[in-house]
Amino acid sequence: MNKSKNTDMEKKINNLLRKMTIEEKIGQLCQFVVDRSTGPEVGKNCDVADKIRKGKAGSILNVTGVKNIRKYQEIAVKESRLGIPLIFGFDVIHGYKTIFPVPLAMASSWDLEAIEKASRVAAIEASAAGLDWTFTPMVDIARDPRWGRIVEGAGEDPHLGSLIAKAQVKGFQGDKLDSPDCVMACAKHYIAYGAVRAGKDYDNVDVSERELNEVYLPPFKAALDAGAGSLMAAFNDVNGIPMHGNRKLIRELLFKKLKYDGLIVSDWNAIDEMIPHGYAENRNHAALLSLNAGVDMDMVSGIYESELPGLVKEGKIPVALINEAVKRVLRAKFRVGLFDNPFIHCNEDREKLNILSKYHRESTRDVARKSMVLLKNESHHLPLKNTLKTIAIIGPLADSKLDMLGSWYAEGEAKDVVTILEGIKNAVSPSTQVLYSEGCKIEGDNTDGFIPAIKIASKADIIIAVLGEAGGMSGEAHSRGSLAIPGRQNELLAELKKTGKPIVLVLCNGRPLTINWAKNNIDAILEIWFPGTEAGNAVADVLFGKYNPSGKLPVTFPYSLGQIPIYHYHRKSGRPFQAENPYSIKYIDMPSEPLYPFGYGLSYTIFEYSDIILNSDKITMGETLKTSITVVNTGPYNGRETVQLYLEDVAASVAQPVKKLIGFKQVDIKSRESETVEFSIKTTDMAFLNEHMKLVTEKGLFRLYIGTNSENLKEATFMLM
Ligand code: NOJ
Repeated sequence: MNKSKNTDMEKKINNLLRKMTIEEKIGQLCQFVVDRSTGPEVGKNCDVADKIRKGKAGSILNVTGVKNIRKYQEIAVKESRLGIPLIFGFDVIHGYKTIFPVPLAMASSWDLEAIEKASRVAAIEASAAGLDWTFTPMVDIARDPRWGRIVEGAGEDPHLGSLIAKAQVKGFQGDKLDSPDCVMACAKHYIAYGAVRAGKDYDNVDVSERELNEVYLPPFKAALDAGAGSLMAAFNDVNGIPMHGNRKLIRELLFKKLKYDGLIVSDWNAIDEMIPHGYAENRNHAALLSLNAGVDMDMVSGIYESELPGLVKEGKIPVALINEAVKRVLRAKFRVGLFDNPFIHCNEDREKLNILSKYHRESTRDVARKSMVLLKNESHHLPLKNTLKTIAIIGPLADSKLDMLGSWYAEGEAKDVVTILEGIKNAVSPSTQVLYSEGCKIEGDNTDGFIPAIKIASKADIIIAVLGEAGGMSGEAHSRGSLAIPGRQNELLAELKKTGKPIVLVLCNGRPLTINWAKNNIDAILEIWFPGTEAGNAVADVLFGKYNPSGKLPVTFPYSLGQIPIYHYHRKSGRPFQAENPYSIKYIDMPSEPLYPFGYGLSYTIFEYSDIILNSDKITMGETLKTSITVVNTGPYNGRETVQLYLEDVAASVAQPVKKLIGFKQVDIKSRESETVEFSIKTTDMAFLNEHMKLVTEKGLFRLYIGTNSENLKEATFMLM
């Protein structure tokens, strides 16, 4: 927003504030739920229409569709005293009706343009369905695959996570947030939610100030810099202070230090939950703590509505503090354009035309195939020829529609999904026989389906086993204590192996799984996560080579559960891992290396890297170092490579991570051709937080790494003088 528009907005907000009673002000801070719960059942039995009429509601969540939204908005603008519009929010996480791959999958594309486009399409559909606000992106860095919500974010790395956060905010909010096809973004969950103890959703968080600032804060900063209109507080505490009462991290850090003037919304009922958390004595105390901390809007707990009037009357909360929170809410409504047109997103024609359009289906298919990660292709069974005589497709996820949508699929519907079986049938030649058997269920012990599965497998030229987790096994409240492929699916795979036929494992999952056996025994593995509405067509595009896989893991795959936490960006030790040295970081009973490292992903073609070229081996403070590397496609297919750049500060006043991802570039390289990829490295890329948490760059030796994943890298050194 430009400066004069901003001043104008602030003037209008102040004028409006002067007209509002304290009840109406508090009303703006209350969000009510209609239609469906996305958390424990609370707040559903109230007469929302009556509250809107009385100016006691500022926002509604979980209503969708122009007709429904218009109904409530009309009450707000026509029947309430001041006619302040409501703001309507919903979890449009990876699509509204056209469902894109789950966020962790999209992060695997490392394709910021594609991710922005996916968010744009989601915004076009959501805004066409009457919505003003989405509770996305989830920018929580996640390093524990047991945590179900790892699927909702961009994985383990703060640099990649920050770039993706920015792309998502840009996609949802567009160039002008008050355009009819944009919705306000909400970066969540502030902060360190991904660090919950042992990966158990809602558990506590103990995190150092350093880790908070280096790892968990950057994606939030990136979202704010990109203009995210709102932020959601996290359920967890940080070192004993629940985030909904955390004045230091909200009011002091976000408002005062980072000058954030957007809206902070609570998570579902979370203000109330500070009571069982052992932080608030009762609802009254919870309201006091939360407003003081800087949480402007209460999602469904009803606490602001019931407690704030009394707290203001008793002088425990100054009206100025209420005004500040109300301003943040009104600002959000202004920014979305609701004061100019409360029905900006209520256009039935758009609703009919824009949702699940052909173009949107094509977009999700494209993003889905870019999100798939080829983990193994040892005997080069992939890509498949579409003239194969017989293909056996086996597994409980092969013909499943709903599972392909993953968690948080908004208004996505199973009936619109192309299953993997359907996608493969669409892709093969008329002479190819496609046989299918479920084999077993995703969970449970029944193995009766093994026999028919083995029977068809024995007749086939190749087996495609589609196994993994159900779409609902990750996401909120879905942490797992095991990372194995669930049920009897592993045994089914072992039985299929006995047929001696080549097997391609197509893996559906919302988190890294421990697939050690499959890695050692199965010919090819394609990680597809949950690819969304066009799942089957996108999988077929990759299996039959219409798209050469280019995805890279945004998260480390552990060898076993016992390795957790395992991620690439960790600090050094005085006794780093050495294979032959027992006195080095390692386990005595399992490998120390991950099963698949961060950044890993194969292609049908082969990329070979030259040595690194530096324009100098010395730079001075403020100078830019130029580096390049040549990547040759020596294989038979055109392909896309993500060239990754890491930096190691060899010795610093605070021991630094073994290496940090500081950049990457994607290049499309034709077979037998090469590309030279250049990076410019600034001395600010070498900065870190010193002992006093001040950002500094120190002179000394640095190591630069460039390559195809976080472990397979070329190396060069330079001095910062
Ligand atoms: C709880 C979840 O933590 C949050 O991500 C979501 O936006 C809200 N419920 C609203 O559904």
